[in-house]
Amino acid sequence: MHPPGDDELTAARRPWPEARRPWPEARRPWDGRRVVLGVTGGIAAYKAILVARRLTQLGAEVDTVLSEAARHFVTPLSFEGVTGRTALTDLFSVEGAARHIRIGQDAHVVCVAPATADFLARAAIGRADDLLTTTLLATDAPVLLCPAMNDRMWAHPQVRGNAQYCEEELGYTVVGPATGPLAVGEAAGAGRMVEPEEIVERIGRALARGGPLDGRTVLVTAGPTHEPLDPVRFLGNRSSGRMGYALASAAWRRGARVVLVSGPTQLPDPVGVETVRVETASEMDVEVQRRVGDADLQIFAAAVADFRPVEPARSKIKRERDGSSWNVELVANPDVAAGSAAATWSGAVRVGFALETENLIENAARKREKKGFDWIVANPANEPDAGFGAETNRVTLVGADGAEQLPLQPKDEVAEIILDRVQDAVGAAS
Ligand code: CTP
Repeated sequence: MHPPGDDELTAARRPWPEARRPWPEARRPWDGRRVVLGVTGGIAAYKAILVARRLTQLGAEVDTVLSEAARHFVTPLSFEGVTGRTALTDLFSVEGAARHIRIGQDAHVVCVAPATADFLARAAIGRADDLLTTTLLATDAPVLLCPAMNDRMWAHPQVRGNAQYCEEELGYTVVGPATGPLAVGEAAGAGRMVEPEEIVERIGRALARGGPLDGRTVLVTAGPTHEPLDPVRFLGNRSSGRMGYALASAAWRRGARVVLVSGPTQLPDPVGVETVRVETASEMDVEVQRRVGDADLQIFAAAVADFRPVEPARSKIKRERDGSSWNVELVANPDVAAGSAAATWSGAVRVGFALETENLIENAARKREKKGFDWIVANPANEPDAGFGAETNRVTLVGADGAEQLPLQPKDEVAEIILDRVQDAVGAAS
């Protein structure tokens, strides 16, 4: 080894080559929010590193507090590497004594992941013999506990009783555990910590308490519909469902009760959202009409098929048997959005989508009036990076006061901006 020479120092200061440039500045919606992430001693502790990393990427300041047992599985350095902040372990140090009060008081959310059976017991009886338990006693912030343990331990009445006490008497939220494969050598069962993505979503919802959508009911339609031609074929479209799912997740993170009525998609059910799966426009119509009366915010993001075969064939159409051409008569489907307007309560806010190949804004504005929407999100149908199937979208939000064009961006971020614009109207409506 030798001290770096001038050349090496200059090389270190050179800008990133194109291929190695860091990611462009991402949105950091949780800037200024403080999360205490408690980690106790179970094998799922390694997944807590992913939680810490994601929270930091979203802008949160993450103070990790590791129990002594946690340090058998992960090190403070692992968390420092992803949060850029000192991970905390000691109650009995010069700094530690005041720190548990400070981080507990300053936290917007405290989340313990994984929470072992021992930790649940200690939390339930109010122990205060390490930094994590004392922090818990010193906080007024919402507390999430994510249990992880062997299924036989989770099934034990004492463990269940402690979890129940934490929820019912202390007001903590117990998230999971999930059912699935446990540590190596153990059978699969209920006891697995929920996945880091779900923990982050739930922390997001806890951070959003008190916003305009907190406690509201939001109804979202999403995806295509499939209209059967015969038992194996259907008429459909290229909608992936991403835009509607992103809106449903974003509304749930903002504290709403969300019902998502979805046509067939490849996407998993969003965390926390009541997802109702349908195939056809008629089924979507039934499910939406059943629920629309309760919804404070209604978002119609589905690409509903406008027509369906009058009578789908009962058995598979065969080329040999049925000839060389096939004429299918189509009949109009119900208009789910327009048909729900009558059942809507007067204070509800309605948002539609319009996918257009020409005269985007004029056509969208006309649909807004015709279908009783407060806003309509106009989507160009003929751009490769926007609309159906794409990960990104370039939309114009058309309301009573005019149109706002948003830049091309990921659908998750489009969803956040749409909610930013409409959520105050939901609050004002009651
Ligand atoms: N929509 C609906 N049910 C339908 C058709 C459309 O709920 N049968 C909703 C969509 O979810 C969207 C809005 O109405 O919010 C506009 O959809 P779009 O397909 O753009 O409009 P259409 O009314 O089908 O008009 P056109 O096909 O003539 O463009």
